[in-house]
Amino acid sequence: MTNKRILVTGGAGYIGSHTVIELIAAGYEPVILDNLSNSDRKILKNINKLAGYQVPFVFGDCADPVIVGKVYKKYGPFKGIVHFAALKAVQESIHQPLRYYRNNLDGLMSLLEAAGQHGTGAFVFSSSCTVYGQPDKLPVRETTPLKDAECPYGDTKEMAERILHAVVRGGAALRIVALRYFNPIGAHASGLIGELPIGAPKNLVPLVTQAAAGNRGQLTVYGDDYNTPDGTCIRDYIHVVDLAKAHVRALAYLQKQKEPSFYDIFNVGTGRGVSVMELLRTFEKETGVKVPYKVGPRRAGDIEKIYASVDKATKVLGWKAELTVKDALKSAWAWETGYCA
Ligand code: NAD
Ligand code: WQD
Repeated sequence: MTNKRILVTGGAGYIGSHTVIELIAAGYEPVILDNLSNSDRKILKNINKLAGYQVPFVFGDCADPVIVGKVYKKYGPFKGIVHFAALKAVQESIHQPLRYYRNNLDGLMSLLEAAGQHGTGAFVFSSSCTVYGQPDKLPVRETTPLKDAECPYGDTKEMAERILHAVVRGGAALRIVALRYFNPIGAHASGLIGELPIGAPKNLVPLVTQAAAGNRGQLTVYGDDYNTPDGTCIRDYIHVVDLAKAHVRALAYLQKQKEPSFYDIFNVGTGRGVSVMELLRTFEKETGVKVPYKVGPRRAGDIEKIYASVDKATKVLGWKAELTVKDALKSAWAWETGYCA
């Protein structure tokens, strides 16, 4: 029987939980390793509900080689690793740089070592559009030069990409894909899994849904004097379910590779830029609910506009986004008012 086991670090988190479900749908057998530092056991329960069986879960830190060794001993060998586990809050990373470097880089290195030792063939890494900073030319392609990171979080993604590249250049028997996610939003159609921020949300969409639900006062739109059609910032918002499916494609792509050492990078976005005001208006139109907001000053460090070229993922992985921002916002609202409420 062929090995279908995939180690999913951070599988209890926002993107990881959706990916676990897509992996199961594609016939894989995910095993989750998560220290629940930014997630909740309730999500694990709902993953099991959606899966129809108890998805193996190990509570622990993926930066700890002893824990990773135990996971391999109990559940290995793995056909692949999908490595989501990381801390991701930009502002927090500025105040706690060592915690971010330690968690995000030690985690990556302990898994790469384990993958090398145990002959795990495929490794998919969660990178971010943050590595592009404010690009000089849009849309951004995988070949667009990277900008120096503005925060330790972004730096961990740039450093991680360099580590991955070096490991492969050095001839390690590892096939690796880094996916540069743009802005993931939305929730699963079942309403059972979604973004569950611990404490105050930091990203736009959970702030919008919480403001609309009356749970968090007014939303502040950070600046309307940017050089964009309506003056607000532009991002490439990608439905989390589409993003999850890109991981399944990445694993299939890695399994097709013949060279023992292999590295590739893909943007995962929609290719379409949407402004903050456009997103708010779309939310209001799709849900019929008003979002209380005010326009405030710019947020320090914000990028004016960015969106992806997804030509490479389309051509090479055969992947492209199928869901829309409307779909994502409706699902985010269903999540906010159903499960989250
Ligand atoms: P999340 O916080 O919801 O999920 C991350 C999960 O990893 C959490 O369940 C957390 O408990 C776990 N974790 C963190 N450190 C760990 C460790 N050392 N050992 C074990 N588990 C650990 O975040 P997410 O939005 O699902 O992001 C997943 C990945 O995608 C991260 O690497 C993040 O940097 C990256 N990413 C996220 C976004 C975004 O906007 N959400 C955008 C680009 C890239
Ligand atoms: C989106 C837009 C804000 C909140 C972050 C990380 C980045 C990557 C993706 C992980 C911006 C505006 C927001 C609010 C607002 N993550 N906004 N009022 O800034 O694109 O990127 O997530 O890798 O590294 O920095 O996402 O959701 O914070 O903001 O007007 O209360 O919404 O100015 O234009 P961002 P975001």
